[in-house]
Amino acid sequence: MSYRQFGLLLCAGVALSTAFAQAPVPDSPAIEKRVDALMARLTLEDKISLIGGDEGMYIRAIPSIGLAHLRMSDGPVGVRTWGPSTAYTAGIALAASWDPALAERVGRGLGEDARARGVRFLLGPGVNIYRAPMNGRNFEYFGEDPYLAARITVGYIEGVQSQGVVATVKHFALNNQEYDRHGVSSDADERTMREIYLPAFEAAVREAHVGTVMNSYNPINGVHATQNAYLNQKVLKGDWGFDGILMSDWAATYDGVAAAKGGLDLEMPRAAFMNAKALMPAIEQGVLPVSVIDDKVRRILRTAIRFGFLDPSTEVGQFSRYNQQGIQTALDEAREGIVLVKNEGGLLPLDAKNIHTLAVIGPDAWPAVSGGGGSSTVTPYRAVSILQGLGAIPGVKVLYSPGLPSLDDLFNETRFTSAMDEGSENRGAIKQETFPNRDFTGTPSISYIDHIASWKPLVWSEDAGIKKSIRYTAAFTPDVDGKHLLVVAATASDAYSLKVGGKEVMTQVSRENQGPQTAEIVLKKGKLVVITLDYLPGAADPRISFGLRGVDELITPEAMQIATEADAAVVAVGYDAPVESEGFDRSYQLPFGQDALIEAVCRANEKTIVALTSGGEVETHNWIDIVSAFLLNWYPGQEGGTALAEIVFGARSPEGKLPITFGRSWEENPVHDNYFAPPIAPGEIPRVRYAEGVFLGYRYYTTRHKEPLYPFGFGLSYSRFAFSNLKIEAAKSGGSQSVNVSFDVENTGLRDAAEVAELYVGDPSAKIERPAEELKAFEKVRLKPGERQHVNLQLDRRSFAYWDVKSHGWRVDPGQFTIMVGDSSENLPLTGTITLP
Ligand code: BGC
Repeated sequence: MSYRQFGLLLCAGVALSTAFAQAPVPDSPAIEKRVDALMARLTLEDKISLIGGDEGMYIRAIPSIGLAHLRMSDGPVGVRTWGPSTAYTAGIALAASWDPALAERVGRGLGEDARARGVRFLLGPGVNIYRAPMNGRNFEYFGEDPYLAARITVGYIEGVQSQGVVATVKHFALNNQEYDRHGVSSDADERTMREIYLPAFEAAVREAHVGTVMNSYNPINGVHATQNAYLNQKVLKGDWGFDGILMSDWAATYDGVAAAKGGLDLEMPRAAFMNAKALMPAIEQGVLPVSVIDDKVRRILRTAIRFGFLDPSTEVGQFSRYNQQGIQTALDEAREGIVLVKNEGGLLPLDAKNIHTLAVIGPDAWPAVSGGGGSSTVTPYRAVSILQGLGAIPGVKVLYSPGLPSLDDLFNETRFTSAMDEGSENRGAIKQETFPNRDFTGTPSISYIDHIASWKPLVWSEDAGIKKSIRYTAAFTPDVDGKHLLVVAATASDAYSLKVGGKEVMTQVSRENQGPQTAEIVLKKGKLVVITLDYLPGAADPRISFGLRGVDELITPEAMQIATEADAAVVAVGYDAPVESEGFDRSYQLPFGQDALIEAVCRANEKTIVALTSGGEVETHNWIDIVSAFLLNWYPGQEGGTALAEIVFGARSPEGKLPITFGRSWEENPVHDNYFAPPIAPGEIPRVRYAEGVFLGYRYYTTRHKEPLYPFGFGLSYSRFAFSNLKIEAAKSGGSQSVNVSFDVENTGLRDAAEVAELYVGDPSAKIERPAEELKAFEKVRLKPGERQHVNLQLDRRSFAYWDVKSHGWRVDPGQFTIMVGDSSENLPLTGTITLP
């Protein structure tokens, strides 16, 4: 329900909450009149003070007009800022449910949690499109497809706003990577923006009537979001008619006057740029009309009135901080979002009657990894880990081992010898040569350190790091023959090159905030090798560490023992908040040692199930062919362990469907050559060209006839479904042309289960090249064995349109369109056509 419906219901006398009984009808002329009256009581100074945030998470109070301090809280996966709260699943898991009604329920839960904490503005949902797997914030978002993302977005926002809490759709726009997120310009053409990156925002505004939009950090086509008049004024406020508040991301404003003119209404977290000092001279010189400031203030007041924040009766209300219904919602969300992509020989579901002993192994098994890192991190009151979930299955004995050392243990336990100082007191130390320049030349100051331990700051003085280069030299004598895993952990804008025996095995160029990287090297037992790490710290407080270990020594012996003993094994691998997070990108490869762990457990137990915790696709080629079953957990929120255990042991059939294409390798991804900004000349800004255009994800794979590992929309069930009886008819809806598509879905298997019927449209006769298929409708059906449901889906004219750069509008080329229905972007058994004028 949107706030419009909410207000109307209240006016119709339906008492949803006494706290809102006096709320005015949204959008009534009365609101504008009330805004006028308040505006008349404000000085220009008051007005300017209102367009900069306060105390980190508030809109400033103006007591003289009855405007209270309006509190915000981070989302999007829980009300994060004001103490513990319900931790819902990551956005990507919600998208994997393909269930907008569930998104609405989650939104309502978030709204309740917000109100219980006096929160008026929730900083969610995050709706940026999944462009490449490494983006550290993919987990917060709704996947690669604009239509699916839009449906989930609308449900979420309607849920939040139905509770009288303002939702904030973010990050507007094209914020599709975390590395150097303030600096890199996302350069995309108009069609790509309109068709792929903007529709979820558009739906948030036009359908869900979102109260707030948050500008992103990055420039778009060379202009920072907060001052990008094309996106903010023309598209958002002009084309889409957004009349709420456009706020900045936290410290995403770079120029006060440019932002004021470029459409920003509220600078967060405070008025660092859009303040009286910057704006008054521009106003006095006539560069910035007062009407521009007035418009921003009107938007803030309008929103406050709409949501009842100026009415004393709308105080926080009777919600409990501990949200019992929220627990149930989080559990349902995890159940619906988990995707089963491989189930060789029908290994799953396990039968508790045959599986007496289950080995649970891996770094993500315990403690619970409910979410990724950064501003979305919620501390829940309770969180069920995979270990606890599986451990609660009656009659199954669970044996557990983390399987791998932690990163810190690996660094601390690496024993170096010293090649160059053999016999001296520095034996076993790492030689650290610090050069007073950035190119490792001249006379270094030399010191010795035990190990580069714990990934702690090494260079202490203020600007020491960025003016120096550091060479670490260590020697290592392997105890074992064969494969060794080398790990380097560096952060900030560090660059390094790591050589083993003079040969470069790992490098990192200066990209903001990268996580630990690994390389496999083959060494000979007893044969000393010299390791050199040339390190260019990118920040004043660089942190770097490295270590290595024989692959065969990496995996703990007890993990191997329980894997061998048990009737089946679950390997819980993936990322967690410290390595998949806002602020930096993650690796495409699983974190250190995990590939080797999967391989080893598979060798020890042929009934091995991999449960992956991640925000998206990972490198799988080392093990995908040898695992029996593969489940994508995403970040499953506080109840994730229970949901996974129910699916593994068959209390529920999996029903999640991929909201992304899961590729075979990063090299095959259409974004591969255009994800990192190429080197720039001094004075230029870094730019990423969205050269793949609209051919992203399945739009690329289906059009170019490439085969991904698992296609968009795919997910296995424990039951089977059949599609039949496709009918396609032209119709009229509200005076405009539409197309009705209907068909049957039948559960032909033996279990209660859910299926998502996915409808794609193709436009082979278009005047321009269009993707072979695009998702335009879907419906989730829940059926008992033998049960059949007739599904009706309606396509409006926009479902057939592309963005025409000549007319700057949506265009339908008359001709024959293909309608395809099935259970994934690659399995569409029902096909038909319709000719449109
Ligand atoms: C994030 C936003 C978040 C804000 C406030 C920023 O770093 O990008 O998503 O809402 O912080 O915490």
